[in-house]
Amino acid sequence: MDALTAIMTKRDTRSYTDQAVPDELVDRVLDAARLAGSAKNVQPVRVVIVGDPETKEALKAGGDYAAWIDKAPVIVVFTVTADAGPRRMFDIGRHAQNLMVAANALGLASCPVTLHHEDVVRSILGIPVEVEVPMLVSLGWPDSTEPPAGIAGPRVALGAYAMRGRWGVAP
Ligand SMILES: Cc1cc2nc3c(=O)[nH]c(=O)nc-3n(C[C@H](O)[C@H](O)[C@H](O)COP(=O)(O)O)c2cc1C
Repeated sequence: MDALTAIMTKRDTRSYTDQAVPDELVDRVLDAARLAGSAKNVQPVRVVIVGDPETKEALKAGGDYAAWIDKAPVIVVFTVTADAGPRRMFDIGRHAQNLMVAANALGLASCPVTLHHEDVVRSILGIPVEVEVPMLVSLGWPDSTEPPAGIAGPRVALGAYAMRGRWGVAP
């Protein structure tokens, strides 16, 4: 799949088959994530890969909309050092989107999940207090027999999304 198709066909998917994701494929999407640029090339993002069923079950308590995440074969928990500057969430977003688009190109489904209760996640995974843990991404083979769960909607039209030259001017 070419890059543009991988970007444009990406949808967030919360239903997965039981089939394991081979480590080589996990490594490939992790490579896509780690190669993202960061502000001043500080590279403050690190990830924790979780496949153990008990840990996945425990991580459900980390988010308010995370009740389904234990069904994903792989969970990638995104962290960033709290002193990495004001744009550190942009850095995380670049990593996570790289990972999800690369996964889509390989046929893998994914979904970003907010971690509202970072202390819970820190305690489960042994993450130090100076490291923020705002998001995780689930990963697995899409279960096409299940209807999509959660909120899925169309995107804002290009004419409403983009303005040209000045706020409020149609492109
Ligand atoms: C910053 C962010 C936080 C999100 N948090 C959650 C979450 O906590 N739980 C969840 O199931 N989905 C979460 N999502 C997934 C969104 O619901 C999804 O991106 C949106 O509904 C579009 O879905 P679609 O690609 O299927 O159209 C999150 C997405 C983003 C970008």
